[in-house]
Amino acid sequence: MPHSSSLSLAFLAGLVLALPLDAQDSSARARQLFVANCATCHGESGDGKGVTQLDRPARSFMDGGFSFGNTPEALFRTISTGIPGTPMPGFEASLSEEQRRLVAEYVVTLGPPIEAVEDEDMILVVHDRPLVVRGHLPPLAEGLPPHPRGLLIGDPSGITFEYRVDDVRLLALRQGGYVRRTDWSGRGGTPLEPLGKLVSQIDGGKPAPLFALGKGAIPLEARLSGTSVDGQRVVLAYHLVSAGREVAHVEESPAVITRKTGTGHARRFTLIAGPRPVHLALADATQPGSSRDSVTRNGKRGTHSAGAERGADEFSELVLEASHWSRTDGMLVIELEPGARASLELLRMPMSAWEESKNAVLGGGSR
Ligand code: HEC
Repeated sequence: MPHSSSLSLAFLAGLVLALPLDAQDSSARARQLFVANCATCHGESGDGKGVTQLDRPARSFMDGGFSFGNTPEALFRTISTGIPGTPMPGFEASLSEEQRRLVAEYVVTLGPPIEAVEDEDMILVVHDRPLVVRGHLPPLAEGLPPHPRGLLIGDPSGITFEYRVDDVRLLALRQGGYVRRTDWSGRGGTPLEPLGKLVSQIDGGKPAPLFALGKGAIPLEARLSGTSVDGQRVVLAYHLVSAGREVAHVEESPAVITRKTGTGHARRFTLIAGPRPVHLALADATQPGSSRDSVTRNGKRGTHSAGAERGADEFSELVLEASHWSRTDGMLVIELEPGARASLELLRMPMSAWEESKNAVLGGGSR
């Protein structure tokens, strides 16, 4: 099982790092950090031939082929965040920023001399705050449509959230560079070239509308009303519309979730009813029969459910805080009085990382 080996690795890494590291020069420290945390998968020399059996090979650094950027800054991000959906863990929690920078510099020295790609004028780079650009998005893959109205949220972790916004839907996650624009003068409609490598497509890159109306589950259109940056988070505000009428307002904010054993993402939603009562339905992607319980938080009745996605080694988790809700036929129905609010979080994690967080949060859990 790949996840059990990465758990014990993280444990070993903790032990080695507990040793005093004073009085060592930084290159020796960098090498020691690499051997302690990375060599089991990437090999002592960085040739990708570590001792840990993985379901896919760890990267060889010696041939210098980096998919997510080859500058110390880009490597720092990859090391901090990990690579979603692969055994490459994020080290944000287990190594300090200084240690991650040291090991990133060290990885650069393992490869052949490389030409760092210079930032061209047309390339937008995310630094310490998230960025948002809108424009025309090319198809994610062959056979999928382009999106004339698209939006890219660049997170400082190096992850980009790719949305269509003619009807707001998260399409995919990318990792690496952010975006190249062909024309910076235009507003909207400008062709965007996402530079990150695709690491995850939501529902095959063709997600259905997330929210529907009532038990009849009439899909609702999500009309973008604006975007804003609130500290480290980007908020997409939109109206849910049925037959031209606004039934609720939504604020959605995506975030990268990094655990020692893997990287996933969470989408947080604030739902606000319009002037009339509304029943919002959404498909409950979590599998029937998985651990599921009602919880009460801050005096509000909510639900917390988690389960395996069908056919994928990914888990999804849903946390809802609402006064009134019910569950029918794989749908979760949130009942809102006029002007009432509910909050919802949808989390997707590779299985191993989810197991770890479940144990931490639910104290062992039940399944
Ligand atoms: C549990 C095994 C494991 C450990 C431990 C691990 N890695 Fe990785 N790493 C991988 C795998 C597997 C990949 C390739 C993922 C993929 O398919 O793209 C990878 C990819 C990478 C990449 C991406 C290269 C690119 O294409 O841009 C970098 C950089 C990296 N690892 C650095 C590190 C560093 C530095 C450490 C230690 C601090 C480390 N890794 C620890 C398994 C591991």
